[in-house]
Amino acid sequence: MPKTKPLKRILHTMQRGQKPQIRVKRAKILGVFSCKGGVGKTTTAANLASFFASRLGKEVLVVDANLSAPNLGLHLGILEVENSIHDVLVGAVPAESAVHVHNSGLHVIPGSLAYEGDIPLIDFKASIEPLRQKYKLIILDSAPGLGTEAVAAIKACDHMLIVTNPEIPTIASTMKTFRAAERYRKPILGVVVNKVSGRKFEVPLSEVKRTLGWPVLMSVPEDLKVRESLTAGAPVINFAPKSAAARAFMELGERVWEKLGFKSR
Ligand SMILES: Nc1ncnc2c1ncn2[C@@H]1O[C@H](COP(=O)(O)OP(=O)(O)O)[C@@H](O)[C@H]1O
Ligand SMILES: [Mg+2]
Repeated sequence: MPKTKPLKRILHTMQRGQKPQIRVKRAKILGVFSCKGGVGKTTTAANLASFFASRLGKEVLVVDANLSAPNLGLHLGILEVENSIHDVLVGAVPAESAVHVHNSGLHVIPGSLAYEGDIPLIDFKASIEPLRQKYKLIILDSAPGLGTEAVAAIKACDHMLIVTNPEIPTIASTMKTFRAAERYRKPILGVVVNKVSGRKFEVPLSEVKRTLGWPVLMSVPEDLKVRESLTAGAPVINFAPKSAAARAFMELGERVWEKLGFKSR
C-alpha cells in the first residue's frame, strides 16, 4: 500500500468495507497495597516498575499515591522534582507535566516531600485518566491503611497487588485489605509475602497461604541488599541483581507480566 496519511488510509479501508485499525493505548492500572506500613509496598512498586520498564521502556509509569509520606522518589534516587503528584491533585499542573524521566528510562510521578498544604479532594482516578492513553501499565504505590488516600488509590486501579509479611499482626490487617477489595469490587492479582526470614518465630508460608486463602504470587526473602539499595537510591533488581531478593522480585515481575496478559517479547 502506498504511504498515505492516517486519515486517508482509514477512509480507504472503510470504503473497502474493512474495519479501520485504530489502536488506542489504554494502560492497565496496578495498585500496590497493604494495611500496615513498612511491609514493602514501595519496594515492590519500585522493583516491579523497573522490571516492566526493562520490557516496556517508556510505556510504564509508576506513581506515588502515598501523599502523607511519599517516598517512592527516595527508592529511585529522586530527591527533588519540579512538579509532583501533589501539584497534580490540587489541579496546579496536568498529570503529564509531573512525569519525571528517571535516568534508567523509567517514567515516574513522585510525591513532594516538602508539600504541607491540604489536598481537599483526592481523585486519583480522574487525575491520572489522561495518562492511560500514553502508557501500557501504570503502577500506583499506595499509602498504608484504608484512609482517604488508600481508598482513592483503590478506586483508581484495575487490579490490586497486596503485600504482607509473615507476622501475625500484619496478616490480620491484610484481611482488611481483602475486604476493601471486595467492597470496591477490585480484582486481587495476588499476594506478595515479603521479608521472609524463615526464622522459628515467623508464621510459616503454608500457614500464611492457608489463613489468607488467596494465591501467594511470590515470597520475597528478607535481604539486607534491599536496605542497601534504598540507601543507594536504586531498586534492588538494579542494585544487586544476583541477590536473593532481586531474583524474587524479578520472578514476581514475570508472574505479574503473565497475569496482566502482556504478550511474550
Ligand atoms: N525483602 C526485604 N528485605 C529487607 N528489607 C526490606 C525488604 N523489603 C523492604 N525492606 C525494607 O523495609 C523498609 C520499608 O519498606 P517500604 O517498601 O518502604 O515499605 P512500605 O512502602 O510498605 O511502607 C525499607 O527500609 C526497605 O528497604
Ligand atoms: Mg511506602
